[in-house]
Amino acid sequence: MITTHSPLIVANWKMNPATPKDAKELFVAIRATAKKFNDREVVIAPPFPFLTELGKLAPSGSVGLGAQSVFYEEKGAFTGEVSATMLAATGVQYVIVGHSERRALGEDDVVVAKKLSAVLKAKLLPILCVGEQTRDASGAFFDVVKEQLTAALTDVPKSRLQHVTIAYEPVWAIGTGKNATAADVEEMQLYIRKVLTNLYDRTAAGKVRVLYGGSVNAKNVEMLYREGAVNGFLVGGASLRPADFSMIIKTTEPKV
Ligand code: PGA
Repeated sequence: MITTHSPLIVANWKMNPATPKDAKELFVAIRATAKKFNDREVVIAPPFPFLTELGKLAPSGSVGLGAQSVFYEEKGAFTGEVSATMLAATGVQYVIVGHSERRALGEDDVVVAKKLSAVLKAKLLPILCVGEQTRDASGAFFDVVKEQLTAALTDVPKSRLQHVTIAYEPVWAIGTGKNATAADVEEMQLYIRKVLTNLYDRTAAGKVRVLYGGSVNAKNVEMLYREGAVNGFLVGGASLRPADFSMIIKTTEPKV
């Protein structure tokens, strides 16, 4: 049974694959593995145009559907944008908010906060991405993560915090093949919980799932999961390779 403590593995397909046919094949392959592990939650976030069709292939309980972004307004003259309500209508449950690739295109902390609130208002589950550009010896990167968390959660009341998942994604590790070490990940997930405890309280902070993302693959997942002490992963490149992603799903077993 899936609970708010179940491991969560999210496939962020980014702007891939090229065709609906390829998307369907990839989705079906991942779903086959996900079905075997129903004590963990597997979510696929495809590009917007594939959501409706893939939503039909995701009957309850097998694979969850995610979106890679959203706009914060509900409707109106916002060319090219998609609202949280529209996403919900396609069967989306999770929405990635504040991914570094969106931030690089100009999304700032204020926009991220508005998007987070819009997602919660539509009764969807945000996955808030935070992470530093680079690491420095003095540890200033911790402050970067604290500021991102504090800004994004400004309008989130304590009662809603449990619906938020945090993904720690150091920018230098995304798509580079250079993952953070398990020790780095463990340290940052503890730090994230500390920041959440200061913003809310320990009980509320304890209900939040913290994921790691950044060059997670079939080889490093075991170590990252065992020693990184995270609740799951946000996976880009390896989520386009069914064999690798299957291994990531298999490895991310519930912790007792
Ligand atoms: P990556 O991407 O696994 O390809 O590094 C992770 C992400 O951007 O969420």
